[in-house]
Amino acid sequence: MLSNTIQDALNKQIRVEAESSQIYLAMACWAEVKGLEGVSNFMYAQSDEEREHMLKLVKFVNERGGHAKISQLNAPNVTFESFKQMFEKLYEHEVFVSQSINELVHITLQERDYATHNFLQWYVAEQIEEEAVARTILDKINMIGDDKGGLYLFDRDIEGLTVTTAASDIASE
Ligand code: FEO
Repeated sequence: MLSNTIQDALNKQIRVEAESSQIYLAMACWAEVKGLEGVSNFMYAQSDEEREHMLKLVKFVNERGGHAKISQLNAPNVTFESFKQMFEKLYEHEVFVSQSINELVHITLQERDYATHNFLQWYVAEQIEEEAVARTILDKINMIGDDKGGLYLFDRDIEGLTVTTAASDIASE
């Protein structure tokens, strides 16, 4: 059984993951209308992943005797100054999500909820992956600068950079 404190904290994280999904969906749309198909496919996949992150939490809360509350979401940015700025936002957002997960883990220790603490380790590992992918992309974008040919090649290659989820890493061990 979840305590009210843990349930509230998990519901907050459900909202963070749902907003992440919307943020990346908006990025996918912007990239798509700008003609960068690879980048948009990458962002659509990211958006789907975030929905999976959200659903995993929803199921956990409901299965542990709580009630996952689906809340209103903040509207995401729908336009960006540049692809570089968009990927900077993606990286900053993943750092924010990691902080949010860390805070949640901290609360589970305070509440001595070791089952939830254990469940959250998947998210801790996932955030390491997500931050690493976002950083790799930013490094590439910084190398390309304003070169159009470079951006074309980047758009072609980015689809190979999908986030391998921590879960699939564990499954293959
Ligand atoms: Fe679910 Fe990218 O954090």
